[in-house]
Amino acid sequence: MDTDKTSGGFAPLNWISRKARSAYHCEISCDDACFQPAPNRSGNEPFAAILNRRISRRSLVKATITGAPLLALSTSPLSSQIFGSAPLTNKADAAFSTVGLESIPHDNEDVINTADGYSSNVIIRWGDGVTPGAPEFSLDGQTAEAAAKQFGFNCDYNGFFPLLPGQSERGLLGVNHEYTSGVDMFPGYDAENVTAEQAAIEIASHGMSVVEVSRGDDGSWSYNPSSSHNFRLTGETPMMLTGPGARSVYTITKADPTGADVLGMLNNCAGGRTPWGTILTAEENFNQYFANAGEETRAARYGIPPGASRRHWEDFHDRFDLDMEPNEPNRFGYLVEIDPYDPTFTPRKHTAMGRFKHEAATVTLSDDGRAVVYSGDDERFDYVYKFISNDRYNIFSRSANLDLLSSGTLYVARFNDDGSGEWLPLVAGSGSLYTWTNAGIASFTRLAADAVGATPMDRPEDIEVNPVNHRVYIALTNNTKRASDAVDGANPRGPNTHGHILELTENGGDAASRRFTWDIFILCGDPSDSEQETYFAGFDKSELDSISAPDNLAVDANGNLWISTDGQPSKLGQADSIYVVPTAGPERGRIRRFMTGVPGGELAGPEFTPDFGTLFVSVQHPGEGDGLDEPSSTFPDGDFPRPSVVAAYKNDGGVVGT
Ligand code: FEO
Ligand code: CA
Ligand code: CA
Ligand code: CA
Repeated sequence: MDTDKTSGGFAPLNWISRKARSAYHCEISCDDACFQPAPNRSGNEPFAAILNRRISRRSLVKATITGAPLLALSTSPLSSQIFGSAPLTNKADAAFSTVGLESIPHDNEDVINTADGYSSNVIIRWGDGVTPGAPEFSLDGQTAEAAAKQFGFNCDYNGFFPLLPGQSERGLLGVNHEYTSGVDMFPGYDAENVTAEQAAIEIASHGMSVVEVSRGDDGSWSYNPSSSHNFRLTGETPMMLTGPGARSVYTITKADPTGADVLGMLNNCAGGRTPWGTILTAEENFNQYFANAGEETRAARYGIPPGASRRHWEDFHDRFDLDMEPNEPNRFGYLVEIDPYDPTFTPRKHTAMGRFKHEAATVTLSDDGRAVVYSGDDERFDYVYKFISNDRYNIFSRSANLDLLSSGTLYVARFNDDGSGEWLPLVAGSGSLYTWTNAGIASFTRLAADAVGATPMDRPEDIEVNPVNHRVYIALTNNTKRASDAVDGANPRGPNTHGHILELTENGGDAASRRFTWDIFILCGDPSDSEQETYFAGFDKSELDSISAPDNLAVDANGNLWISTDGQPSKLGQADSIYVVPTAGPERGRIRRFMTGVPGGELAGPEFTPDFGTLFVSVQHPGEGDGLDEPSSTFPDGDFPRPSVVAAYKNDGGVVGT
């Protein structure tokens, strides 16, 4: 009998054979998470599921009310002026949000198309030199040593950090390298006979690049390969654990008896900027890098493979083999703080914000100045979280703020069908967590959240705070495994093929509130498909084009929501795209397609400059899974596909979206 309360006590999963598989993107980006049994076996029922099987009536009623214009934005805190479009805490309502561009048609072309009046250019590609002295990229001559100096694979999150306060023409761009795909990296790759050097190159191609970028007179962007600001983080860079999970029985390994010194970060997906000018980046599908979990129940709750891993790193590095280092995976799955201005800063994995498949790391400030961080757990039937720091943001001491995310309270969301909701604290020794320790909660957060009765969601992806209307937007990308009789108000479709976006309002507009209200903002899909229920905040959908699988979000100066998708090729037969949608006024809910991606790729990590004159976007995994002989995309050079970052800007130099 399992007497360890942190293990949850659910049955081991029946792991699906690797033969009964899916699209390559699913295999390589998250180890087929959607094709495995959902790891949440807690038995948490969707709250009051039987009461509401369709869009909540309240959502529909309120949508007509919120069609009214909001009020004007007031001043922003100093931090957002310095570090760009950081979230605001001001309470004044928003101006009418409008969009001044026309939607472009969907396509499957191997080019990036943008709305009329806009241009885009490639800034940096996989293999381009990052650190000074990096060798020129050679597809046939790759080495791990070179990869650790070059731009890594599969760029996702972008964070722009001005070098001078408010600067929008020059700054540092921090870019995640989420995951690798051997077949798309190495000519002649044999997945069953991975070499030690290939494994080492893949480890070096994870992590993050920070590069200095600047805008030219023609509006286009380039990076400076010889800037002393540039640096790389990889899957082996020394990092430290902070908070209650550090130095615990769960994080000590043979190689690290301190339980605090970790090598590298893996599968960093979305991210955010802190008001004090650091990057917060989210380790997502970390489970897939580890092997030989057997039937250990806590590992199963995180989807760690019972046998070999897909990349076979365990063949060359003991730490990826749970038979050798059972605690090593407990040192991954965190929000990681990085100082883009200091290449010598040791990145901090903040365990106080929990361990799960973090997607999103969105920071704002509460009314009393504490740091509040929203993050989702991107798994079918997993949860939405919020962290509130113990201490307050210190406008006079950046170094003090670097400790803010090490201690605080983590909450998980329960969405009630009546449109209300509450943040349930994950606190050791209280309520259903009375047998837990703080270290246990930090290391096995999913099980703690199971215990308090959080609402299982349809794969939470990015979360953004809208600084204009102060609402919180949550992308739920899809959940084809939600049964029609297991829907609830906040996850109203089963199966949820196309995903949806929730709009959350904290009580009193204070990010530290324990209660909130919520609405459905968009139910994605093809509005012309009568078989699928869609909803666009009450806007007349007969005028609208299709959207599916919302993933990353961004908000512009006028409070419009920008949405990037990941999955449209399989859902709608069209390239993943970026959309913009007003959140207020008569056009609230009117989606417009702004940019289209390339075959096999998604457009990820949308990020504006402080003046909103440029939108940075990652072109992730172009031609994915096709290999290098006949890839469906050869973006950007027509030779072989290279994940790249592009900048999009208005030809007249104006604000994007206006
Ligand atoms: Fe890396 Fe949940 O997308
Ligand atoms: Ca994502
Ligand atoms: Ca975002
Ligand atoms: Ca994605």
